Amino acid sequence: MKRIIVNGANGYVASNFINELLKNNYEVIALVRGNGKFSATERVEQALVQIEHKPVKLPDNLTVYNYSLMEKNFSLSDEQLKNIFNQDADYFHFAASLKYDYKSKEEIYSTNVEGLENSIDVFSAHATGNSRFFFMGTAYSCGHFKGLFGENFYPDENISAFRNYYEWSKRLAENVVRKHIENKGLKGHVIRLSQVAGNNQTGETKTDYGIFDFAKRVHSLAKRYPGETVRAKIVPEGIQNLIPVNVVVDYLMQTVAVPKVPEIMNFVADTPVKNSYVINGLNKLLSLKIVPVPELEHSQMNSLERLLAVGMSFTGNYCNVHIRFDTSRRDEVISRRVDDCMDEETVYRMLEYFIHNVCEKTGKKKTVSVGN
Ligand SMILES: NC(=O)c1ccc[n+]([C@@H]2O[C@H](COP(=O)([O-])OP(=O)(O)OC[C@H]3O[C@@H](n4cnc5c(N)ncnc54)[C@H](OP(=O)(O)O)[C@@H]3O)[C@@H](O)[C@H]2O)c1
Repeated sequence: MKRIIVNGANGYVASNFINELLKNNYEVIALVRGNGKFSATERVEQALVQIEHKPVKLPDNLTVYNYSLMEKNFSLSDEQLKNIFNQDADYFHFAASLKYDYKSKEEIYSTNVEGLENSIDVFSAHATGNSRFFFMGTAYSCGHFKGLFGENFYPDENISAFRNYYEWSKRLAENVVRKHIENKGLKGHVIRLSQVAGNNQTGETKTDYGIFDFAKRVHSLAKRYPGETVRAKIVPEGIQNLIPVNVVVDYLMQTVAVPKVPEIMNFVADTPVKNSYVINGLNKLLSLKIVPVPELEHSQMNSLERLLAVGMSFTGNYCNVHIRFDTSRRDEVISRRVDDCMDEETVYRMLEYFIHNVCEKTGKKKTVSVGN
């Protein structure tokens, strides 16, 4: 069966992808870093257990290597490199820092740009001729772009063209891929994901990224200040693009089965999520009432509202943007469309799952309080 190499394989999207690959008998090579507590193999196993909700025996079609993203040849031995790259494969670069703030900008740059470049170097030095390199980008590398964001490369820009350092780094990274395609003949591809949500069939949601990070913060405030009403600077009719994780996995499965793939594809949902879905859902689920006030100024906020605003430092930037994404190149590859519905009821089910199964179980560790 075809070989698929995945780095950052213990991450949220990658582990859902490799789980499906393994079930479909692909040969999967997972590159993961061990940490002080758990080995690379244990970390993959934990990720798969989380998805399957039961003990998992690692299958024979999976091999895990402990690697160092930033080091020459990933600090792997010649023999390991030979074993990984000795036949044609699709290689997926998932590893990334999802931080976004100014103080993390060096870490963001080194992981997302230099780490990617090193990954391409390792791939280019060792992979066989028909192997393909896929970089997982973000649709929000569009930054403050207005109009229809195409499935083509855009030039590097200054941080002011983006909402945060994460977006900026992902744009720079795309252009690293471009440089290697144009100058060195890399068989390279960029897959841009919008905000990845939970599973829209089951409601199961185990990511705390984007709107779920916001939900986690509101949950924490609601525990501390039950019954309060807080205003938030949000346009209720504003939209965000969220794509269910099962849809991403399905699209990736279709991608690996197709021999000819465009250089760039936007994996986004056809219909965006309105901010009001998130607010309505949280207002039903939590004992804190959020009132969207689009013109609310920071100086008008009380201390609780300021705390909520801090919690929106990432999500808030996405609350009022109306970007449209072209998907015509994606549609050349994704011949079997799957239901990517993220309607109000689906968003509610995801928030409900997330609050009961993630926040309620982990929320006790973190608290926030007014005036701190
Ligand atoms: N989730 C989304 O909504 C979304 C949207 C658009 C694009 N994407 C892209 O999709 C990819 C996966 O995202 P995700 O949400 O699944 O992220 P995730 O769960 O945070 O996984 C990120 C992975 O990158 C690895 N990583 C980070 N820094 C590393 C380093 N210095 N060395 C080696 N590995 C490192 C992490 O390993 P450790 O566990 O060891 O830290 C983890 O395996 C990323 O490239 C992301 O930019 C995600």
